[in-house]
Amino acid sequence: MKKVNIKKTRNQKPKDDQSLDAVLRPFSWNDYIGQKRIKKGLKIILEAANKRNEPFDHLLFYGQPGLGKTTLAHLIAAESKSNLRVVSGPSLSRIGDLAAILSNLEEKDILFIDEAHRVPRPVEELFYSAIDERKIHLTLGKGPSARAISLDLPYFTLICATTRVNLISPPLRSRFGAIFRFDYYEKQDIEAIVERSAKILGFEIASEAVSAIARASRFTPRLANRLLKRSRDFAEMRNLKIIDKEIVSETFKILEIDEMGLESYDRHLLKMIIEKFGGGPVGVNALTAALGEEKGVIEEVYEPYLIKIGFLQRTPIGRMATEETYKWLNIAR
Ligand SMILES: Nc1ncnc2c1ncn2[C@@H]1O[C@H](COP(=O)(O)OP(=O)(O)O)[C@@H](O)[C@H]1O
Ligand SMILES: [Mg+2]
Repeated sequence: MKKVNIKKTRNQKPKDDQSLDAVLRPFSWNDYIGQKRIKKGLKIILEAANKRNEPFDHLLFYGQPGLGKTTLAHLIAAESKSNLRVVSGPSLSRIGDLAAILSNLEEKDILFIDEAHRVPRPVEELFYSAIDERKIHLTLGKGPSARAISLDLPYFTLICATTRVNLISPPLRSRFGAIFRFDYYEKQDIEAIVERSAKILGFEIASEAVSAIARASRFTPRLANRLLKRSRDFAEMRNLKIIDKEIVSETFKILEIDEMGLESYDRHLLKMIIEKFGGGPVGVNALTAALGEEKGVIEEVYEPYLIKIGFLQRTPIGRMATEETYKWLNIAR
């Protein structure tokens, strides 16, 4: 069987896509399509805080990459006319890094920590007093000359985003006023996003092409936008004025994704279950060993979409391929 490097294909976000994200990012509630449950909950929190003239509760966003967590943090800042300070978890490797950021916050700022599960525990502990008493306690120097100092912080709101909520420690988790789980989008929401993006990027797209992109997008806005952008590149190369279904299909072929949005690592995982474990049930530990991937990553990053589309079943005795899986991969039972 062909060896696929799962780690490399998943989680990577080319530079090009980062600027695409920025261009297509909605900044108003109206343009933020779908996720009705989250929007409703958030609006209540924001309005209540506004009435009391207080900063709103600290928030935790979690869910798969590309579902709109960062976008929502930007939108909240725009709506509440606050400054957003964006920091990524891995960049906070020392206590001093976070202390410097916290002590530079201004009244009503929003501090957005992306990939919050990658903040090291000793650094994370600084948040506890920052949230509980709006103070941080630091020890300066070492040995007999060391001294403890406390710094007062302004009113601020912390928003953390993560793809791995199980890695956020319970003491931090319990300090958020609200926790929001981001779900996959409805197909018609993705279609609306694709249409909006095409308009912003300034080109025409056939409705069949919109539908094909939505179907292969893994119900994820970022991936839908990426497929749209690649299809546009192809259409331009061919001097076509409109993106049609054929162009989209060709784009999928080149990107090596199929019509359901499965990539090589998804097929690898499913074929492994079928060919090596007789279709399952196979325990996640055996699967982990066979794929050479962390258990949490398999459970939180690879499996959810496969489960969502009914290509994988989680049972008490292990993972199983389904009738649909065999059919889609064209493997006889
Ligand atoms: N609700 C939405 N409506 C329209 N576009 C969205 C929505 N959510 C995300 N997007 C698009 O997807 C891109 C990726 O979203 P992002 O917030 O960066 O995801 P995450 O932070 O969850 O990984 C955004 O730049 C935006 O273009
Ligand atoms: Mg993000």
